[in-house]
Amino acid sequence: PDSDRMVVAVDGPSGSGKSSVCRAAAARLGAAYLDTGAMYRAATWYCVQQNVALRDEDAVAVAVEELPLNISTDPQHQIITVGETDVTAEIRAPQISEKVSDVATNRKARQVLIGAQRRIIDQAGFIVAEGRDITTVVAPDAQVRVLLTASAEARLRRRGAQLGDGQSAEALKRQVLDRDRRDSATTNFTEAADGVAVLDSSELTFDETVDSLIGRVESVQETA
Ligand code: DC
Repeated sequence: PDSDRMVVAVDGPSGSGKSSVCRAAAARLGAAYLDTGAMYRAATWYCVQQNVALRDEDAVAVAVEELPLNISTDPQHQIITVGETDVTAEIRAPQISEKVSDVATNRKARQVLIGAQRRIIDQAGFIVAEGRDITTVVAPDAQVRVLLTASAEARLRRRGAQLGDGQSAEALKRQVLDRDRRDSATTNFTEAADGVAVLDSSELTFDETVDSLIGRVESVQETA
């Protein structure tokens, strides 16, 4: 096999630490990095900006087709622009998080974004790509396929630490579980598909999780 070409596909629920883990692993490996969730978020930002009714499936699909998206694949320098606008920070706003399911559950919009993701992965050669359907749909033939999970308690703990203590534990729990339920309408990220290794980070530190992912990549590189 061509040793310059290696795709590391990682899926998992929100709050599993997936993005930070994948970004750190890609940086250490000298690989590119693709955050596909950011693409769904940027598409949602664009629909909102264009006043597209998010419940109008066809209108959303048309908007996503013309989405002028640019996403960097440098793990140390994540910049996402839509047209001339840098949306890197804005796509993390709660107003976007609330609406992103409307785009993620739109089948036509998914097809467009999946096509764009495959092109980015093909161009990169060596890349860590993460999302919800990378191991199963976007890059099922990836050399390394990992489902990064964490118990609901661990994810809540991390979320709570992220948001500070301004929010009640109950509200937070509802938010995390709601998000899981909405996301699972389109993608099954809670069970590993055939050939996908489960990496449970519930009892691991951040560094241990990164080490474990890198270990899997290196063991495949050695046998290549
Ligand atoms: O990982 P995230 O929170 O940034 O993802 C944002 C949304 O996009 C979330 O609702 C799940 C969805 N998503 C998806 O459906 N498929 C992907 N490959 C990545 C994200």
